[in-house]
Amino acid sequence: MARKLWAVRGLAALASGAMALSLAACGGGGAGAGGGADGGDADGGKGGLVGVAMPTETYERWVADGDAVKSGLEEAGYQVDIQFANDDIPTQQQQIDAMINKGAEALIIASIDGTTLGSQLEAAGAAGIPVISYDRLIRDSDNVDFYVTFDNFQVGVQQGTSLLTGLGILDENGEPAADAPKGPFNIELFAGSPDDNNAGFFYNGAMSVLQPYLDDGTLVVPSKQIDFDTVAIQRWLQDKAQGRMDDLLTSTYSKGDVTVDGILAPADPLSRGIITSLQNVGYGKGDLKMPVITGQDAEAASAKLIEDDVQYSTIFKDTRLLAEQAVTATQAYLEGKEPEANDTESYDNGKKVVPSYLLPTVIITKDNVKSELVDSGYLTAEEVASGQAD
Ligand code: BGC
Repeated sequence: MARKLWAVRGLAALASGAMALSLAACGGGGAGAGGGADGGDADGGKGGLVGVAMPTETYERWVADGDAVKSGLEEAGYQVDIQFANDDIPTQQQQIDAMINKGAEALIIASIDGTTLGSQLEAAGAAGIPVISYDRLIRDSDNVDFYVTFDNFQVGVQQGTSLLTGLGILDENGEPAADAPKGPFNIELFAGSPDDNNAGFFYNGAMSVLQPYLDDGTLVVPSKQIDFDTVAIQRWLQDKAQGRMDDLLTSTYSKGDVTVDGILAPADPLSRGIITSLQNVGYGKGDLKMPVITGQDAEAASAKLIEDDVQYSTIFKDTRLLAEQAVTATQAYLEGKEPEANDTESYDNGKKVVPSYLLPTVIITKDNVKSELVDSGYLTAEEVASGQAD
C-alpha cells in the first residue's frame, strides 16, 4: 500500500500540474487525505525524500529541532532535505519550491510568517504532498494537513505564573502565596512576533493569569503599554527587544522614582536583550535588583543566567519530543494513514481547524535546571555552566 502511494506521490511531484491534480484527485492522498486505501505493498515509503523547512539558525532551539527531525527521519529510512531560511520569507518560499521540485513526498514546515506560503502550499496540495506544520501554525490555507506543537496557550500561562511566583504573589505550586506581598509591582510586557501565530497564544495565556492582578492593582504597567501590537517584537529579534527596553527605561523609568520589578519576556533571546538593557543602566548591581524576568526555550545561555540569579525562569519545550511527533506524523502519511491528533479544536488557521498534536511544557527555575534539563540530557552540565550550546 505504502509503496504504491509513495510512488504516486513521487510521480505527482514530478508531473505537470494537471497530471498531478488528477492523480491527487483519484486517491493519491490529496493534501493529507491519508489516502492510500487502494492497497499495494507496504514499506512506508522508505527512501523517499522529506523536505524540512526551518526558520533560522539564530535561535538555538531551531537548530536542535532541525537536528532531531533530520536524524529521526533518517533513522526511519527517509532521505532529508533540510533548509534554514535565515528568517527571510522569500528564502523560505524558494527553499520549499525547490523541495517540491526535487520530489519531496512530505513537507515539515516551521514557517517564518505563517501567512506567506500560499503558492508553495497550493503546489504541495496539487501534488498530493502532505504538509505538517511544525511548531508554528501555517495560516489561511487548506493545504495544511497536521500540526505538531506544544500547548502554546499553556506556555503563556506558565510564563505568567512564573512571573507571579518570582514576585512572591504565587507560591512554587502556582497557588496564592500565604504571605503574598501586596505590591504594587511594576511590570513591563513583551510579546513575540505578530506574524507568528504562537505569539498571540503565548501572550493571551500569560495575560489570562496576569490580568486579575492588573485589575486589582497588585500589578501595574507604568509605561501603560499593554496592547499586543504595541508590545510585540517583530521577528523575535533580540536587539529589537533590547531597543524597546532601552526606550521604556528612558521614557518611564529615567527619573529614578519608579523601578521595574518584573518583565514578561516571551523567549530567551529576548530575555537576554532585555537583561542587557537593564544591566546597562545599573540593574543587578547594588540596591537595584534585577527584575523577575521570564523566558522560553531553555537555551543554554539562559539556563546559565537562571543559575546565576539573573534571569528568573524559562519554559522547557523538549524539541526532541516535538521532532519525534513530526517524524511519526510524516511516517503515517507516507504509509497512507492519518496521524493521531490529541487536539481537534484549538488551532483554526482561518480556513480549517488543523488536527494537532500538542506536547506539554515545564516551567524551569533555578530549582529544576538540573533535574529537568541536565538529567534529561537536553543540556549538558557543561553547556549550562558555560552558557553555550555545543
Ligand atoms: C516558538 C518559540 C520560539 C519563537 C522564536 C515560536 O514560534 O514556539 O519556541 O522561541 O518562535 O523563535
